[in-house]
Amino acid sequence: MYRDAPHPIRLEDYRPPEFLIDRVDLNFDLDPDLTRVAASLQVRRNPAATRGDGSLTLHGEQLELDGVSLDGYPLTPAEYRLDAESLTLLRVPDSFLLQTWVHIHPASNTALEGLYQSGGMLCTQCEAEGFRRITYFLDRPDVMARYAVTLVGDKARFPVLLSNGNPGESRDLGDGRHEIRWEDPFPKPCYLFALIAGDLGLVEDQYTTASGRPVGLRIYVEPHNLDQCAHAMVSLKRAMRWDEERFGREYDLALYMIVAVSHFNMGAMENKGLNVFNDKYVLARPDTATDQDFAGIEGVIAHEYFHNWTGNRITCRDWFQLSLKEGFTVYRDQEFSAAMGSSAVKRIHDVRGLRAHQFAEDAGPLAHPVRPTAYIEINNFYTSTVYEKGTEVVRMQANLLGPALFRKATDLYFARYDGQAVTTDDFVTCMEDASGRDLTQFRRWYEQAGTPQLWVKGEYDGADGSYRLSVRQFTPATPGQQQKRPLHLPLAIGLLDAGGQELALRLSDEVGDACEAPLPPGTRVLEVRAAVEHFRFVGLPERPVPSLLRGFSAPVKLHFDYSDQDLEFLMARDTDGFARWDAAQTLMQRVLLRLVAEPGSDAPSAFFGACRLALLDTDVAAALRAEVLTLPGESYLADQMRVVDVDGIHRAREFLRRRIGEELRDDLMAVYAAQAETGPYAFNPESAGRRALKGLALAYLMAGGGEEALTRCRDQFAAAHSMTDVMVALRLLVDRGGPAGEAALVEFYRRWSTEPLVIDKWFSIQATSIRADTLEQVFHLMDHPDFSLRNPNRVRSLIGAFCTGNPVRFHAADGAGYRFLADRVLELDPLNPQIASRLLKSMIRWRRFDQGRQELMRAQLARVLDAAALLSKDAYEVASKALEGT
Ligand code: TRP
Ligand code: ZN
Repeated sequence: MYRDAPHPIRLEDYRPPEFLIDRVDLNFDLDPDLTRVAASLQVRRNPAATRGDGSLTLHGEQLELDGVSLDGYPLTPAEYRLDAESLTLLRVPDSFLLQTWVHIHPASNTALEGLYQSGGMLCTQCEAEGFRRITYFLDRPDVMARYAVTLVGDKARFPVLLSNGNPGESRDLGDGRHEIRWEDPFPKPCYLFALIAGDLGLVEDQYTTASGRPVGLRIYVEPHNLDQCAHAMVSLKRAMRWDEERFGREYDLALYMIVAVSHFNMGAMENKGLNVFNDKYVLARPDTATDQDFAGIEGVIAHEYFHNWTGNRITCRDWFQLSLKEGFTVYRDQEFSAAMGSSAVKRIHDVRGLRAHQFAEDAGPLAHPVRPTAYIEINNFYTSTVYEKGTEVVRMQANLLGPALFRKATDLYFARYDGQAVTTDDFVTCMEDASGRDLTQFRRWYEQAGTPQLWVKGEYDGADGSYRLSVRQFTPATPGQQQKRPLHLPLAIGLLDAGGQELALRLSDEVGDACEAPLPPGTRVLEVRAAVEHFRFVGLPERPVPSLLRGFSAPVKLHFDYSDQDLEFLMARDTDGFARWDAAQTLMQRVLLRLVAEPGSDAPSAFFGACRLALLDTDVAAALRAEVLTLPGESYLADQMRVVDVDGIHRAREFLRRRIGEELRDDLMAVYAAQAETGPYAFNPESAGRRALKGLALAYLMAGGGEEALTRCRDQFAAAHSMTDVMVALRLLVDRGGPAGEAALVEFYRRWSTEPLVIDKWFSIQATSIRADTLEQVFHLMDHPDFSLRNPNRVRSLIGAFCTGNPVRFHAADGAGYRFLADRVLELDPLNPQIASRLLKSMIRWRRFDQGRQELMRAQLARVLDAAALLSKDAYEVASKALEGT
């Protein structure tokens, strides 16, 4: 909690550490109520740093200091200074052994940072700055040390004691306690430290690396969850193999451990050799998890595994470089998931997410560059911009270089920086050095916030068979960055003839250039650099339809004056699956925004025709058909309006869903029936795709109304073939309301009351219902015995789901949703600032709404900020930036 006005940390103030720590020896005497931590640090002056005043300041928060000694001599309080955030030794030699003794209180740690209790176990979370809640240390990623850890704990309570690296000696202490030692041979920053103590079951497997080294794989979970680890283990082995093949990266220890915990602020954490996961990204069984859950596990298991090279072996110099590890690692996990399933569908999901979250972030008060320049609380910068836009920036470099040079560049990166803490700039330098290309202008992507907009125009000249594309780019101002410079970006395009065939793309040599990229045949990547660029294609016998930004080759908003017919054509004929989907999205958005503007009007019949074609095109995989036919979400539509019309968007979208259901009823029935499954559930791209299409068909049928659809829906719920099918049916029954919905909720709860991850779904379904009384239901659910503010998954499943997944109810015109959110933030902030601050972000874009809602949101934000003296830095930063300029 902050008392004085918190001061921002700035990139420009970065200095190398004055001291380095080579070795760390930690001894934990573990107890939930009081854990003792003894630390021995081998410290020396950094020869590469400028000399300061001779003192050494270590970070430390919420620690109770029991003693300090230097080279074996105890220090008296006169020899050090202690405050709430640090311990300063006034005079130290050039090289010395520093010992500290502290005690901490895991059971009362509700922030879930540092050492805390989750159920019966003790676990740690140190990224970004949690290690300072465990012991006094130089808690910054450019201080890398070798760790040896001794864990002492009660044998019955904590039969399993884990830390990073390799297990060493263990012994029985004879008094009911035991002790085990762990050693990590790889130097690491302290944010990668982890320990686990608990009564855990274990699923074990073996992996042999490409060079023939055996690796023991272990997944630790609470014993009753042992039957839910199989998918995580398969995913891990696939990720390990893929990383060897695609990036030449092998695992480096003899042991790889994953632990699932139920109280966790985020998805998972890549601690060296000992990943700690949110239950949600480990546990799955066909009856408990949806296809989306299975895919999420595959992706997050891979993500954390990939961090071993991109994050751990090569880490960040400082937290401004966070995207160095996160952007690159998400790029790697996206590519992995694409390889495990359909790359077009994977790309569609990722772009949908980017547009929904990152574009929104970039257009609001929290807009920041991929490499931010200042922060008050680093935990607020684990954002969609750092992760997902950072991924796009890596992807663009991969596309600019092409697969062979990109691989050469990543090989160089791994060879050059192994064991070091580096910057995003160092990464780009490797791209340049391996390819011989100049990426000076490209570096602006790391520095400039905001979503660039491209206006593209095409002119066909029948006389000489040429087609001229002109591209103008502009990035709108963001807070603190008024002037934007043009960006260097790859624009992947194809040209289609009237029959849907790819036309050969030959540029007249007068302007522009192009390169090869892993995109569909017929595609070329144009490089855009200037504010306005022209590209002239020659040898075209007819006016082409351009297919632009294929595969979403750059994270921009692209405008082209397509006719509805062009979009219907691309939606049906484009050879790039992503581009088909994108054309459909543009068309649907257009139809929906017209319906918002003219209530009472209908969609054109050609639109339903295009939907029918897409639904029935069995040459296209079911998964892709389902994506193409999914309407843009309400929040995304809101982003396309000058002033958000909350109710108009909801009404228009519900209307169009109903109309599609009515117009296509028979086809939807046929498609629904054709996807029926007979065998047992299996998670693979084909069957998941069929389930997605089936779910989509059922949703439209229910929207279209009628007894037949309702019967199908009830049957699907009752058949319980998979959690995917059950959740689709439950969603529809609950939204429809009435006794069928009530009964389904009761039945679902009864069946799953002992599975917390399934109960999270039960909370979410209710919180995101379009029913008018949803907020009332949410209030009731907060009193449910299964609800707890102390479990982040529960908070997200109820409060988070309502505030971010239910725009029409959250933004109710009376402001009840806003008051509800502010109350919850104020209640949560003292317990868990990270979660409180994330929730608060759902009001960040208050200026986008009508006058009435603006006032209501502003008032609630001000209420939160008024609590400033008690507020965490996390929530303070969000509230103060939201209200900047008012
Ligand atoms: N580095 C983690 C990842 O991306 C995420 C992370 C950062 C995290 N801070 C955290 C996870 C705090 C849990 C809690 O994989
Ligand atoms: Zn990560």
